[in-house]
Amino acid sequence: MAGIEKSMAQYLREHPKMKFVFFGGKGGVGKTVMAGVTAVWFAQQGRRTILASTNPVHSLSGLLAQNVFGQPTVVNGVPNLWAYEIDTKDTIERSKQDIKQKIQWFLKFAEISTQADAFVESATMNPAFEESAMFENMVELMFKDEYDVYVFDTAPTANARRLLGMSKVYSLWVNKMLKSREEARSLRELLSFTKKKEADPLMDYLVSFRDRMGRAQKLLTDNQLTAFFFVTLPEALPIAVIKRFINWFHDFGIPVGGVVVNMVIQKNQVHADSPEFVRNRVAMQDAYMTQIWNDFDGNVRAILPLLDNEIRGTQALKDFVKHAFA
Ligand SMILES: Nc1ncnc2c1ncn2[C@@H]1O[C@H](COP(=O)(O)OP(=O)(O)O)[C@@H](O)[C@H]1O
Ligand SMILES: [Mg+2]
Repeated sequence: MAGIEKSMAQYLREHPKMKFVFFGGKGGVGKTVMAGVTAVWFAQQGRRTILASTNPVHSLSGLLAQNVFGQPTVVNGVPNLWAYEIDTKDTIERSKQDIKQKIQWFLKFAEISTQADAFVESATMNPAFEESAMFENMVELMFKDEYDVYVFDTAPTANARRLLGMSKVYSLWVNKMLKSREEARSLRELLSFTKKKEADPLMDYLVSFRDRMGRAQKLLTDNQLTAFFFVTLPEALPIAVIKRFINWFHDFGIPVGGVVVNMVIQKNQVHADSPEFVRNRVAMQDAYMTQIWNDFDGNVRAILPLLDNEIRGTQALKDFVKHAFA
């Protein structure tokens, strides 16, 4: 009979420098709850911990039953814990203005008499732009380095992978941009009568951007500092989602911490005379548990009971720590 080889707590104790923790999985499986519980556990270990969300649709205020929007906020009743829903709309607006300025500068530099607005619109209407803003927010918080541990309530899975994959793409793209900018600049210097070097804010921006992305990638691919955990239910779809996800992450060299199985009906609550509906569901879960042991052998970190109520508020999170970090 398969069992948990290494629990959540064991894994994290074996990685004492762990600093950036993420939860992925299908919608509704308990990612936000797991992020909350894990953040509470880290705080209880005496580490300055921040539970942060970059999603445009936040759920941390709901989870904690406390408003944590817009700034890192002390979580009531949990020493060492802060929570922070980052205002993505605001970042997007600021990035738009920023990009507009740079494009305007570039058009002037290249002596192109076109309005910047059309370029700005096409650059910022892209859905990747919002993801990029979310990624920048996350990276900014990581670089400030004001906490010991960062637990992120990630965006839905497909986005998270794209976000991280993007750092590689950015780097390639920016290097190429830099090269052609450098060529354009030397040509311009060659042709100009005044030999003085011109300031190039666009180039400076690209260099700093590439460096930031490189730094982020370094942190996010370090298995001593970073771990992505995947949450599933004992059901077909959520299992398929995290399988795909784990493969993607391996490809990107992003450390996978393991798998958490949530909402498992407790056998000791079910008897021969329990309703057929409940007995059928238990049988279904049993079958999928077999699949989970097969597919994720050695990487299952916790099996968590389905409670008779939602998990909301810090007391509920503290109570759930006993299950998740048994
Ligand atoms: N083990 C559990 N038992 C009972 N309710 C749970 C359990 N885990 C999560 N929930 C509830 O399920 C809902 C979805 O959880 P959530 O963490 O918001 O999922 P996600 O972030 O993956 O969309 C929430 O109402 C949460 O309180
Ligand atoms: Mg969530």
